[in-house]
Amino acid sequence: LIPRFGRARRDSELAVLEGLHAVKHALRFGAEIHELVTRSLPQLSGLLERLAPDVAEPVLAAAREVDEELFAKLVPLPPSTGVVAIASRPGVDLAALLSDVRPAPLLLLEDPRDLGNIGACVRVAAAADMAGVLSTGSHDPWHPDALRGGAGLQFALPVTRLAGFGQLTVSDRPVLALDPDGEPLRPRELDPRAILAFGTERDGISEELGALADARISIPMRPGVSSLNLATSVAAVLFAWRLNSG
Ligand SMILES: C[S@@+](CC[C@H](N)C(=O)[O-])C[C@H]1O[C@@H](n2cnc3c(N)ncnc32)[C@H](O)[C@@H]1O
Repeated sequence: LIPRFGRARRDSELAVLEGLHAVKHALRFGAEIHELVTRSLPQLSGLLERLAPDVAEPVLAAAREVDEELFAKLVPLPPSTGVVAIASRPGVDLAALLSDVRPAPLLLLEDPRDLGNIGACVRVAAAADMAGVLSTGSHDPWHPDALRGGAGLQFALPVTRLAGFGQLTVSDRPVLALDPDGEPLRPRELDPRAILAFGTERDGISEELGALADARISIPMRPGVSSLNLATSVAAVLFAWRLNSG
């Protein structure tokens, strides 16, 4: 099990789920689980009864109990809920996602640097029922730490990393760049098929993304505050859209 979990962390077709929250959401949204390990079946059973009775049956059917010492070696930070799993990542059809005519925006994260932030953004996007989440840069939105931050909600909507912005040029969706120096956000005027693009934590929207954008939009802030945290600004904009979309 130890090398299996180690290999799965580096496998771009697999997802390592740490903790009951992530396992629960993955199963709820159709994940194919290959391995599910717990350090205590009675503890897992009790947690499922209390927190996730809807997935109790498949979790317990798949669960393999191991001793505390082995469990501690499967992932770098063993979760307090005592359950970890390996699942397949669902494939993403980018062309279909970009051309999808349903009124749901796409979230685009430019080179996000913090895996916890990436996870928090995916979680908000899933809750607000976005069409999907795209990212650029070196960080994998399916990394185990991003999955932990996203509570496994990467399974609830298409989530994929782009090789570059060139992949967006085939899209007819307008690109709206969120930028503290943009025009004030008017939630009712947000295009329901927009690509809502957020910049990297330190430097904001790049020149390349700015050139691609059809407009720059800001979340109004009190004078003196320079910007919001990335995931916080994503939450504000996505729910501004959601609450105004009828
Ligand atoms: C931590 S901020 C980056 C700060 C960077 N120094 C800048 O000036 O953009 C990360 C991203 O969150 C979004 N953001 C944060 N505060 C915002 C605001 N008030 N209005 C619009 N977008 C905001 C932007 O997309 C920004 O690129």
